[in-house]
Amino acid sequence: MKKILVMLLVFSMLLAMTACGKAPAPTTTEPVETNTVDVGIVLPTKDEPRWVQDETRFTEALKSTDYSVEILFSQGSSAKEKENVDALIAKGIKVLIICPQDGGAAASAVEAAKKEGIKVIAYDRLITGTDAVDYYVTFDSIAVGEAQARYLVEQATGTGNPLYLYAGAASDNNAFLFFEGAWNVLQPKIADGTFVIKNSSEAVALQGNAKLTRDEMGKIIGQVTTNWDFNEAKNKAEAHLTSAKAADKGNVFILAPNDGTARAIADAFGADTAVTSYKVTGQDAEKASVQYIIDNKQSMTVFKDVRTLVKDSIEMAVAILGGKEPQTTGSYNNGKIDVKAKQTEVVVVKNDNVKAALVDSGYYPASDFTNLK
Ligand code: BGC
Repeated sequence: MKKILVMLLVFSMLLAMTACGKAPAPTTTEPVETNTVDVGIVLPTKDEPRWVQDETRFTEALKSTDYSVEILFSQGSSAKEKENVDALIAKGIKVLIICPQDGGAAASAVEAAKKEGIKVIAYDRLITGTDAVDYYVTFDSIAVGEAQARYLVEQATGTGNPLYLYAGAASDNNAFLFFEGAWNVLQPKIADGTFVIKNSSEAVALQGNAKLTRDEMGKIIGQVTTNWDFNEAKNKAEAHLTSAKAADKGNVFILAPNDGTARAIADAFGADTAVTSYKVTGQDAEKASVQYIIDNKQSMTVFKDVRTLVKDSIEMAVAILGGKEPQTTGSYNNGKIDVKAKQTEVVVVKNDNVKAALVDSGYYPASDFTNLK
């Protein structure tokens, strides 16, 4: 009887094996083969169109590689980011491409990767205060801020023009680079009276300084940060408008750090009856902002062609996987080391070149927009 039962058991196991086409899970204490992913990509959040755009472009570009890749999102949390990195390490990645949620907090995640011999590429945002970053792919972020400020300067005539400053998150090294670039161009125009800062006592206190230290920038950013959050941007703009006198309004000029915050700030200024007109900057060429530009609700954006950044980081990863040294064009100091970097240029987009820059270049189809000229 026992023999028959054993035979039946073996027979049913064999049947199960053929039915699913593979052997049952190993029952030994041998570790299960986990080296399943070559390149891990970690992006900050799905809640901003910018990073969804990066995911889309990565997915498109990766169709042609033989390496296996996994993309994870950190949803605005450094803890989730660390979990993502640990999960990818467990899957045996050899290269980690990571855009940190918080440039300083990400150090521990990349240090864990470095310990396992994984090469780390910081993507768009630098990881600071650690030697565990091997490479950095980035846009020219100082040029982004300079382009935003140059636009405002070009639009302003006479003196005494009200200027409202807004910045990104202080946990993002880029927020400092954007602000530094903007200050380079705006400060002489504040000093000569073209603009008058209306919403930051810290910036007013420092307006005589052509160059700001990181600490000085930190003081201004601390006051006018949006934290890259649309609601925070809107609330802050509304609070500034509530405390501003009618004389501080009229034809206003607004430095907004990116597209999401630009739309939020533009909506707040647009709703204030004492604001006769506003010029507002942005960056990322997000679809919603491109439509705002076509509709004259946002004045400009800085187009950062994510296809180039994606291509550069994949080329770097492929070089590393092939045992070669990736190509770089310069370096960025992260507070601890000089990180070898590859940098990409940016393009200014206004109402008159939306089609040429964004549609004719194949970045977006014309059908994504209404009233495109
Ligand atoms: C990126 C911008 C983005 C911002 C908010 C920055 O680090 O460079 O493109 O708009 O983060 O996510």
